Order: sequence, then structure tokens, then C-alpha cells
Amino acid sequence: MLTLRFSIQRYLPEQDRIPRMQLYELALAQMPRDWMLLDALEHLRQQDPTLAFRSSCKEGVCGSDGMNVNGKNRLSCITRLSTVWDEVKDKDGIIKIHPLPGLPIIRDLVVDMNQFFQHYAAVQPWLIPPAGDRDHELLQTPTQRAELEGLYECILCACCTTSCPAFWWNPDKFHGPAALLAAQRFVSDSRDQHTQTRLQALDDAYGTFRCRNIQNCTANCPKGLDPSGAIRALKRKMLTE
Ligand code: SF4
Ligand code: FES
Repeated sequence: MLTLRFSIQRYLPEQDRIPRMQLYELALAQMPRDWMLLDALEHLRQQDPTLAFRSSCKEGVCGSDGMNVNGKNRLSCITRLSTVWDEVKDKDGIIKIHPLPGLPIIRDLVVDMNQFFQHYAAVQPWLIPPAGDRDHELLQTPTQRAELEGLYECILCACCTTSCPAFWWNPDKFHGPAALLAAQRFVSDSRDQHTQTRLQALDDAYGTFRCRNIQNCTANCPKGLDPSGAIRALKRKMLTE
């Protein structure tokens, strides 16, 4: 019999003044080879129905189940249970789970994403085509389309932004890696005619150059994207255009 131990941050606003850690145990005959961390959390929630966390697609697509596990931001639905167990089994044997850092906590592992989405909306993440040119297809060459690779796939899980110290220090002002990756996605799009306005909007004390190239964002992106590289490309454009 294998007993997995989890230390999960709890915060029930109706009873807790501050967050606390709660220990859970899950007894298994052996490590299930196909279980993700989310499967284990769902079993723990059967033990304790008050445990709150978000999930929806269970396929790494919706971005709703970002959480900090053993010190790294991840999506629980595409993180193997065996991986997080291997990280701790020769240490204290406890899988540690916290909400994404740097955002207000609503309850347990559920954070308030409003600020994150406000920063995303601020970079105008939509195509702005030439005036008077809105009633027909805007074609791209394969080369122009290839410029969007590694940028359009973001699922807005916030794992990058909430691992960024520059965001932690100025969460109300600095847009953070996910929003800046989105900015670079539209700056790079041959169909968009708003490049100069976009670059100017990001050229202030809390704009693109507030990024200090710490690269936690890239290290924590569960989709394997490179927000840090996107921000460096954005900086190069701001310096040259
Ligand atoms: Fe999530 Fe990666 Fe998009 Fe950041 S860049 S929001 S970590 S998918
Ligand atoms: Fe949708 Fe994990 S539940 S990304």
C-alpha cells in the first residue's frame, strides 16, 4: 500500500483570518500510471467536499487549474501524479500545493483572476486591420503566418505571470508576461495595422522594460511557450522601430 501525503493551502473566508496548510492522505494500492495530479485532488475532494479548486477541460486547454505544486506553477490536469511524488518521496514525502502566487485568494486554491485579465485586455488582444479594409479576408503568406508560432497558443492560465517577481512587485501596473506575449502576438501579425500605437502604449516605466528578464515565466509555462523570448523580441522592436 502506498500512502501519498499532501499539504494543501486552505482559506475559507467565512472561518479563516489567514490561509493555513492542511494535511491530506491518499492510500493507493500502487502509483496509478495514468493519473494526473487533478485525479488525486478529485479523490481528496471526495474525502473533504469543502476543498475548492478550479478545473474544466482536464486536457490542458482551458487554463483554469493553474496552481503552485512543490514550488512550481503547473496545470494539475497535465501534471503526472508520479512526477510530483518523485520530487518529494526522498525528502519529506509531502506534495505541497498552494494557489498561484501574487493574486488575491478567493477560497483555497481558487484565485481572483480579474487583475490578470484586465492586464490582458489592456494590450488590445485583437486584430486591428487597416481602416476601410474590414469586409474581406486579409491573407498572409506562410512566412507571415509562421511569425505567430509560439505566440497564439497561449491558454491564459496565468502560470507565467504569477511566477514573475516584476509582477509581484507591481501587480496593478505591470502587465506581466502573458499580456506581453499577447502584445507581441499582435505586433507580429502582418494583418494588424496598429503596431506603432501598440509599441508606444507599452513604452512607459511599467511597460515592457519593467521586465527584468528573470525568465521564471518561461520556466513555468505548462504549454512550453517562451514568454520571456516574446518580451525580448518586443523590446527589440521598441528599440528599432
Ligand atoms: Fe499560461 Fe504559458 Fe500563456 Fe503564460 S504563456 S498564460 S504560462 S500558456
Ligand atoms: Fe483545463 Fe487543466 S482543467 S487546463
